[in-house]
Amino acid sequence: MERVRLKWVAYTAYQAPDLDVMERFLVDFGMMRSARTDTGLFMRGTGEAHHIHVTRLGDEPKFLGGAFTVESRDELEKAARIPGATAVEPILDPGGGFRVTLTTPNGHSIWIEHGAAKVAAQPIRRSYRMNFASEHLRFNGTVRQRAEATPVLRIGHFVLWVKDVVAEVDWFRKYFRLVPSDYICAPGDPDPIIKGTFLRYDEGKEYVEHHCILVNESKNFGCHHSSYEVLDLDAVIAGHEHLASKGWKLDAGYGRHYLGSLIYDYWLDPFGNRIEHYTDTDLVNDEYEPVYFVGQAHETTQWGMAPPPSFFD
Ligand SMILES: [Fe+2]
Repeated sequence: MERVRLKWVAYTAYQAPDLDVMERFLVDFGMMRSARTDTGLFMRGTGEAHHIHVTRLGDEPKFLGGAFTVESRDELEKAARIPGATAVEPILDPGGGFRVTLTTPNGHSIWIEHGAAKVAAQPIRRSYRMNFASEHLRFNGTVRQRAEATPVLRIGHFVLWVKDVVAEVDWFRKYFRLVPSDYICAPGDPDPIIKGTFLRYDEGKEYVEHHCILVNESKNFGCHHSSYEVLDLDAVIAGHEHLASKGWKLDAGYGRHYLGSLIYDYWLDPFGNRIEHYTDTDLVNDEYEPVYFVGQAHETTQWGMAPPPSFFD
């Protein structure tokens, strides 16, 4: 069958026992409340997506799944023809729209959605440009960046923990227009053994972000982290200082990753879910040569605070 063309990550969804506490954290993280019901919290960024983070009320904190949007009803109907898919169903959450629910080979829920309401975007721009030693861009101007909640622009990617990476990646590639960017490997003879695969939207010559999903082998099940884009390095560091001042729990950051080159800053939400601010990631197209990365954990960081051992569990 023709593969479904994914437009963008829509949101990740979590279950948590206290929506107030989750909202307090996410506001400090740089999101805004889009809607709140008795049983759900729907948070947005500065873009036009109605929500990019969902929390559903429930006793046990856990990851519920990830959602993608598609550009047309046709693509949604296509998703409904994937084996095991539900029919196209109306979304009863605020924002509405229609969705198809899928279960991956490792048991993750993936929702494909179309037709949700949009909200008015709140574009943010810098009033200044950054000077580099090699290139000066700011003249008779000043930088004014306080340590405050840094606006989250949008969701960029999430990372699934699975037992069987090959089955999961094969499934994503068979049914969706996704293509590997890089691989995380263990040493093997003669070939390295793939433990993780970064997947991006397969848009040929068009440049897209290095990954929208990373599928990673783990003894755990769930989501290693979900990740939200912020404007630039100033935004990452200002947001970091703000989250620290509010007493939230730092996981790792800031620093720059090796694969994808992102500047990262990882925090733990009040229920132990890892959540990332990122900026300045690689953009790649079909001329990009995948890297089979075989290295030590500390080599995944180029500079900055290296992730703790628990990050690699
Ligand atoms: Fe990430």
